[in-house]
Formats: sequence, structure tokens, C-alpha cells
Amino acid sequence: MQFFLDTANIAEIRAARAWGLLDGVTTNPTLMAREGGDWRAVMRDICREVEGPVSLEAVGETADEFIAMGLDLMRNGPNVVVKIPMTPEGLKAVRVLKSKGVDTNVTLIFSPMQALLAAKAGASFVSPFVGRLDGLSQDGMQLVADIMAILRNYAMDARVIVASVRHPRHVAEAALMGAHVATVPFAVLRQMFDHPLTSAGLETFNKDWAALNG
Ligand code: G3P
Repeated sequence: MQFFLDTANIAEIRAARAWGLLDGVTTNPTLMAREGGDWRAVMRDICREVEGPVSLEAVGETADEFIAMGLDLMRNGPNVVVKIPMTPEGLKAVRVLKSKGVDTNVTLIFSPMQALLAAKAGASFVSPFVGRLDGLSQDGMQLVADIMAILRNYAMDARVIVASVRHPRHVAEAALMGAHVATVPFAVLRQMFDHPLTSAGLETFNKDWAALNG
């Protein structure tokens, strides 16, 4: 399973890379706005820091706008994946970008049918948003299970990025389902290290070691 970091923050990217846990990065306009400053420079820096795929979101309404911005985003590096929203115009753009050899990540997926359409259009990745669905009292992880089953039924190439992750349990369930990627906020990645019994056990070992050494 691959771990992407859902962030536009360079310090977080470097920390995840130092742990050997950085397979890629996903960004969106909200994450870019959170960093502030010159978004073009931020995107360039992220693409330099990361060896794996970096999703950069194209913003627009028409296929032509998504394609133009997508091609512009590609200038940030060979690892750019153009993130395109799940709309009819977005899927038109996915098809054209694929014909030009550009990888895409179709975002804002909330139903199995949306994922199937995106995969058929030629998306390299589809991103179901599990946390936002859970927030509406729907079952985000069931959506991932349904999408995985559909893609497997037809041996489709699109890879599933479990997005809008809120806690480590989302990542564990994604791994049990065989989802290809989870894109995790840094805080969730950090939580994934922790268990109270690990902390308690370590404290006891350290105390006993100190006693042993007088
Ligand atoms: O980057 C896409 C997705 O992970 C956003 O998640 O936290 O805004 O629901 P969130």
C-alpha cells in the first residue's frame, strides 16, 4: 500500500520522507491556500521534494480550461498528476490529457458510479472522499469497498486513493480492502505511530533499565 501525504506543507513532506513513508503527495486549492504565498513556487518546491506522484489540482469549469491548466501544471515536473474534479467537463479533460500521456486523479468522488465513469474516461487515480461522507452519516469505507470491487470486476487500471482521511482506522480499513493508496494528513500519519501500550511499555522498560544501572 502506498502512503501519500495530503498537504502542501514542505516541512511535513520532509518529515514523512525522513520516515520513509512518503510515496507521493496530494494537494488541493484549500491546502495551497493554507500555505499562502506564491502558489506557483509552492507547487514547484513540492515537486522537487517528492520522488513519487504529486497531484496538483486544475481549477476551471470547461474541459478546455482544465486541459490548459493541466498542461501548465505539468511544467512543475515529470511527477505531476493533474487533479480534475468529477464533472462531465472534467472527464472530457481526463480523456484528452490521457491521450497526451498526462496522468490524472479524479477528485471529489462520492459514489461508485462516479468512480466507474472516471476509470472509463481513463483516470490514472480516483479519489473517494471517505471522511466527508462519514460526516453526512454515510459509510465512506463502504464506498471504497464498492469501488475496489467494481474496478476488480473489470480489471480496470485506475488506482484508488482513499482521500479525506480523518483517523488511522480509515487507513487500516483501506489496507484491509487492498486500496492502492491512502492520502493522509500529516496529523493522521503521526497518530499512526502511537499506541498507549507502546508508550506505557517503553516507560516501564526505561525505568527498569535505569534501576538496573543504579
Ligand atoms: O485532498 C483531497 C481530500 O483528502 C481532502 O480532504 O480533509 O478536505 O475532506 P478533506
